[in-house]
Amino acid sequence: MDLALLIHPTIAAGAVLLVVTSYVLKTRKRLYFNAHYISGILAFSASMVAFPLGLYYVYANGGVTVFPAEVMFHTLNFFVAVGLIFVQGGLGTAMLLFGRKREAYRTHKRLARYVLAVFVLQAVLGLATLYGVLPFISGP
Ligand code: HEM
Ligand code: HEM
Repeated sequence: MDLALLIHPTIAAGAVLLVVTSYVLKTRKRLYFNAHYISGILAFSASMVAFPLGLYYVYANGGVTVFPAEVMFHTLNFFVAVGLIFVQGGLGTAMLLFGRKREAYRTHKRLARYVLAVFVLQAVLGLATLYGVLPFISGP
């Protein structure tokens, strides 16, 4: 095991920060438009890059049994996180391309707080996992 184990956490932390940014840009008094689209699209993209890398590094380093137990909770929540960002990004993109349909707007707005909560939880579980992974990175 080596420094490559830090690649997923770095990109994924970026994804989490971009979700937080997207949320903040649309829930303060001043609503941002282009900045929200950009951070939202980047949050989606970073998530789609981060999760296969996470899967790969666990698989390539001996599987879940070698990793700290926290990775199990991190993996369970990953399905929720990726499912939510997929729907949220899909609705956002659909609104940009096909106009702001009432239903899409409502669902996107309502879903936002769950996307935020699940991503923050994913980061906490990720940090707990990372803490257990650090001894492997520094090596014996
Ligand atoms: C591909 C990513 C995304 C795209 C393209 C997108 C696009 C949009 C669009 C078109 C709207 C309608 C209002 C407007 O025209 O600005 C909107 C509203 C909103 N978005 Fe997103 N979004 C994305 C991701 C996210 C994420 C990740 C969050 C938060 C976790 C979020 C939270 C919100 C909220 C809260 C609103 C409602 C704002 C209001 O009160 O009018 N969006 N978004
Ligand atoms: C977008 C949010 C995230 C997603 C979707 C995600 C997804 C995943 C997945 C699918 C795995 C592989 C688990 C397995 O094979 O059982 C993994 C591993 C891991 N994740 Fe995440 N994760 C995210 C955020 C984070 C964050 C913020 C951190 C820490 C700062 C983190 C730290 C880790 C660590 C340490 C591993 C073990 C493999 C490695 O070190 O590369 N993750 N993650």
